[in-house]
Formats: sequence, C-alpha cells, structure tokens
Amino acid sequence: MTNQVHLITHPLVQHKLTLMRQKDRSTSSFRRLLNEISMLLAYEVTRDMPTQLIDIETPLEAMRSPVIDGKKTVFVVIMRAGSGFLDGMLEVVPGARVGHVGLYRDPKTLGAVEYYFKMPQEMHERDAVVLDPMLATGNSAVAAVDRLKETRPRSIRFVSLLAAPEGLARFHARHPDVPVYTCAIDRQLNDHGYIVPGLGDAGDRMFGTK
Ligand code: URA
Repeated sequence: MTNQVHLITHPLVQHKLTLMRQKDRSTSSFRRLLNEISMLLAYEVTRDMPTQLIDIETPLEAMRSPVIDGKKTVFVVIMRAGSGFLDGMLEVVPGARVGHVGLYRDPKTLGAVEYYFKMPQEMHERDAVVLDPMLATGNSAVAAVDRLKETRPRSIRFVSLLAAPEGLARFHARHPDVPVYTCAIDRQLNDHGYIVPGLGDAGDRMFGTK
C-alpha cells in the first residue's frame, strides 16, 4: 500500500499550469501547453522505470549501457480529456502501447458510466500509466482503475494536471496502492463537480467545444 501523491512542483510545470488556468487563453495555446506539460510529467512518472544493460559500441570503445523497454509501458487514456496528455507522453516514450477507457459523467449523479474499454494484450508484463488531466470527484479515476485492475497490469500509476482534495481522498480510499502524480491540489470541488479555482472544463478547453 503506497497511498502516495507526487506533487510536481518543478517551476517549468508550475509556470505552464498558471498559463493554462487563465480563462482567456486560446484553444491552441492551451493545447500546446498541455502537450509541453505532459512531456515533463512523462519524465517524472517514468523516473523509476526498469532499465537493462545492453552491449553497444561508441566511436571509441565497447561498453554496456542502460536502455528502457518502452513497450512495457501502457498509457491508458481516460477519454476524452486524457487524450490531451497522450502526444507528449508518446514523444518521450515512443514505444509505449496505448489503452483507452471511455467514461462519461452522469450529470445528475456525477457517477462514471463506461462506454469503451480497450487494452493491449499481456497486461501482466506492462506498467500502466493512467492519464486524466482532472482528478475531480474521483469517480472516473476509480472506475477506470477498477476496470484496469481486471487486466492485472504489472503496476499502475495515475497522472493528472489538477486534483481536488475530495477526489484524491476518494481515489486513495479505493486504490491506496496507486500513486498519483499531479501538478497541483486545488481548494475544493464546487456544486457541479468542477475543481476550483481549477481551469474549467479541460476537454472543452483543449478541443474548443465551448
Ligand atoms: N473535469 C474538468 O474538465 N474540469 C473540472 O474542473 C472537473 C472535471
């Protein structure tokens, strides 16, 4: 049981997050910043990734040097906002596999309803990194990880841009073994399940749908 929260306080990440929070930021700028932050988050979430030594030759001599096996990583996108993290993560780990979980939020109950689920084969050999920019009520995060655990991945990590204290508590009450990587823990949820101060609806802001 880890129950860990990794708060990513790196100044570059915090600077970009501040820009993303600004309500007048354009869709293209929001998307570019999200892409940049996701590369930096990929760096943090893969920090303890296993490596193995291979034999190589430099221009000067032979040596043994470490490499990762990127194929062992599965980025699990919680649709639709999680897809905003994907390109940046794949820039950094191009060999990674990708799974998708489709969940929508019932506007009355705020509960998560699944409409799509597709993972690569042989999940027991893979480390899953679940992507969802907003850990708000925690309902989608809990539902996605509940389903993901049925495939028995070797490990699971959860990456978000922002988290609400309520969502973090709910998530870790159900999945204390899954570490969460996030750039900020905001004050609270409002009555509509939005994180405040937050950045609004991440999906709408990255896709320009509002
Ligand atoms: N989803 C969002 O996109 N924003 C929130 O504040 C909460 C959930």
